[in-house]
Order: sequence, then structure tokens, then C-alpha cells
Amino acid sequence: MTLLGVNIDHVATLRNARGGTEPDPVQAALAAEKAGADSIVCHVREDRRHIRDDDLRRLRKAVTTSLQLEMAPAEPIVRLALEVHPLEVMLVPERRQEVTTEGGLDCLAHRATLAPVIGRLLGAGMCVSIFVDAEPSQVAAARDLGAQTVELHTGPYSHAHNASDASTQLTRLHTAALAAAKAGLHVHAGHGLNYDNIGPLLARVAVAKVNIGHSVISRAVFYGLDAAVREMKGLVRQASGTGR
Ligand code: PXP
Repeated sequence: MTLLGVNIDHVATLRNARGGTEPDPVQAALAAEKAGADSIVCHVREDRRHIRDDDLRRLRKAVTTSLQLEMAPAEPIVRLALEVHPLEVMLVPERRQEVTTEGGLDCLAHRATLAPVIGRLLGAGMCVSIFVDAEPSQVAAARDLGAQTVELHTGPYSHAHNASDASTQLTRLHTAALAAAKAGLHVHAGHGLNYDNIGPLLARVAVAKVNIGHSVISRAVFYGLDAAVREMKGLVRQASGTGR
């Protein structure tokens, strides 16, 4: 069955808008777990625009499911990961001006810089995932680098302009997921997933975990985080394993 990872970055975005302590991303993580989240995801960006180092340390102590740190392969963040030691890390590209992560990490172009970083994270006993575009060549490169998991970038599917484009993107994701499974990798998916597009994705693509942030936190503004997570968890449970 597909698992649900809830990304709580935007609880910190809201807190930081006023510079105080509310709302607390740790409290959000605990509420999401209580509502059925199978893991908690947070991204410590190099500019610390939402989750901060101390949030990560507190999350590491409080989260009882599995904490996944999304991170750029940058030395200060690698050192933070080695200090805090979350169960899982997910390597993503980062550009300072971007609103959110814009594409997968190019494992072919950055092989030389990624290899030692991944070696250190694996050596410390963390599970390593890489966020990649849904391309078999990227999946193969991630496997060669030693990653145990790839998270397939669902942005192009989520932002499809029409049904035909969405179908093309689902086929791309399906092909990449098959290649990943064949290579012995766990397959995760994320970016732009919401209450409408999660069903068709899981009906077509075999995914062990989806990571969802913005749509869940947005729904929580109106219905509360407990209801928002429960509803998403129900959709994931309903759709997972229904078709290929
Ligand atoms: N996966 C990755 C690699 C991401 O960068 C993000 C955004 O932080 C997500 C999943 C969650 O995306 P969204 O907030 O659009 O659900």
C-alpha cells in the first residue's frame, strides 16, 4: 500500500511571516502523524526560508514515524544532516530565487559532486533518496550513485494543461517507476500533488510513498490539519494498488 509523507514546510512559512513561534511545525508534525501520516518531510533550505536548524532538531526528537530531510547536496546542510541524523534524506537541487523546487536533481551531470556526499550519508546509516525527473537515465544514474530510493518529480503531471498532457506525463512516470523497480530502487513521488490528481496518479503508477505539502497545508487552513491529512490518507489508501 502506498504511504503518505506530509511535508510541513509551509507551517514554518506561516510562522516566519510574523517572526514568532506560531504555528509550530513540530506541533503540525505530531498532528499529521496522529491523523495517519506515515512520515514527516521537511526541507531545510540554504536560505532557511521556512524550516530552520532548530526545527529540524526538535522534529528529530518528536517525530515517531519517520523523518525525511529534504536537502541540497551543499556542505553546511550535509553537516547538519550528519549531526541531526534523520532516518531518511532526500537530495534535491536548489536555486535561491526559486519559489519551490523546480526540477529533479541531474544525477548524470552532478555525478562527481554527488558521489562523496551520498557516500557520507550512507556511511552514517541514513537512507538516501534522490529527487529525479521521470527519466530512466536519471533513475539508472541514481542507482549507480548508491541511492536506495528515487522520488519521481510529479510537477509536469500536476501542472499538465489538459487530459492528453496529463496522460503523457503519467506514461512517463509509469515507465520511470518500472525502471526504478527493476533496478531494485524504492519509488516515491511528489510535487504538486493534490486531492484531485492523486487518484489518477496512483491508479497508473506503482509508488511506495507520496510526499505532499502545499495542498494539505492549504486545505488545513479551512478544515484543520487533522481533517486534511485524514482525507488525503483516505484517497491514497483508496487509490494505491488499484491499477498499473
Ligand atoms: N517532493 C519534493 C522533492 C519537493 O521539493 C516538494 C516541495 O517541497 C514536495 C515533494 C512537496 O511538494 P508540494 O508542496 O507541491 O506538495
